[in-house]
Amino acid sequence: MTDGPASDGPASDGPASDGPASDGRAAHGPAASNPRLAPVIRLAPAKLNLTLAVLGRRPDAYHDLHSVMAPLDLADRLSVAPAAGPEDTLRVVGGATGPIADNLVVRAIAAARAAVGRNVDAVPLAARLEKHTPVAAGLAGGSSDAAAALDAALSAWGADVAYEAAALGELRTRIALSLGSDVPFFLAGGAALVTGRGEMVDPLPGLRGTPPGVLLVTPDVRVATPAVFAALDGEAAAAPTDARSTRASSEHLALEWRAGLGADALLVRAGIFASANDLANAADFLVPGLRALRRALVRRLGRPVGLSGSGPTLWVLYASTTEAAVAAAAVRAGLGDGTIVAPGTGEPSIIATAIAAAGTRPVRDPGEEVLT
Ligand code: C5P
Repeated sequence: MTDGPASDGPASDGPASDGPASDGRAAHGPAASNPRLAPVIRLAPAKLNLTLAVLGRRPDAYHDLHSVMAPLDLADRLSVAPAAGPEDTLRVVGGATGPIADNLVVRAIAAARAAVGRNVDAVPLAARLEKHTPVAAGLAGGSSDAAAALDAALSAWGADVAYEAAALGELRTRIALSLGSDVPFFLAGGAALVTGRGEMVDPLPGLRGTPPGVLLVTPDVRVATPAVFAALDGEAAAAPTDARSTRASSEHLALEWRAGLGADALLVRAGIFASANDLANAADFLVPGLRALRRALVRRLGRPVGLSGSGPTLWVLYASTTEAAVAAAAVRAGLGDGTIVAPGTGEPSIIATAIAAAGTRPVRDPGEEVLT
């Protein structure tokens, strides 16, 4: 558990930009007081890359992507409330996320404060983050926490009162991308085709039928995304993936999904898009034993096994969460009897969840008690 004040300095440090309202700010005049000081709760779902085509390097050192992404029921839980003291604080429970000052929740609140300037009374916030999503695992837990924190902070400060809707939307998008390439996806909510660096989020409709269950197997190895992209670009990486075929699979899945894909049809196609991740060979190169684990899971479960993002999380789709839970038990048994071996020092995290149902966006959890 990590606990303590954020070291971003006093909340009043945020740059005060009190320019004219021509950029859409302060459409209703500067906020003189906090319209909302009630606690705000958000769920921050994990995401799955069903496909991930890397189209090429960009001049800004990022890569252009083509990825079909879906949020999961697996989610962290974030609450924010006015802080008792002069600084933002963050308390993390249920997972080790590293230094508080580096946490994307703290950075998101600071970035939101800097962006709104004096247009809202951006009081210091006390955030409490309950971690459920494995960290540095290709599930974008940190980016999702950042999107949730950005949304929660703006809501707690009553930014929707100070800004017109369109201006607030632009502001949110701008802050989101400054926090990370995956953050815009979470702000949009729901499954989407994500392109560009990650900033172009084209929402996809809900899948017809019961959302597929998902088994996640995350070896106890943290993988840094920049290292995986560097391995992809470098000489040292294992054999390149077949980028043309990955892109074709990704484009095809996006087209079919947009046309109205059923959950059952998605399962049938899993055999094709489970291999459509251009970062897979680079992840295998960086994590010895990951490829062997993937093969062991295919043998044990008799299903296609995909890699999410830059890994090391492996995913397997099922008709329901219940079926995914049965598979999870089989994997645990295999790890126990040694027929499945996972890289890493500790036991892998094994989670049965599901692709989030449509209509859960924006992801909120308003009915629960605040635990700060
Ligand atoms: O944007 P974010 O901070 O999440 O990206 C982490 C790293 O992943 C980047 O520094 C870059 O090395 C790599 N990346 C990339 N192309 C993308 C997204 C991420 O090269 N579209």
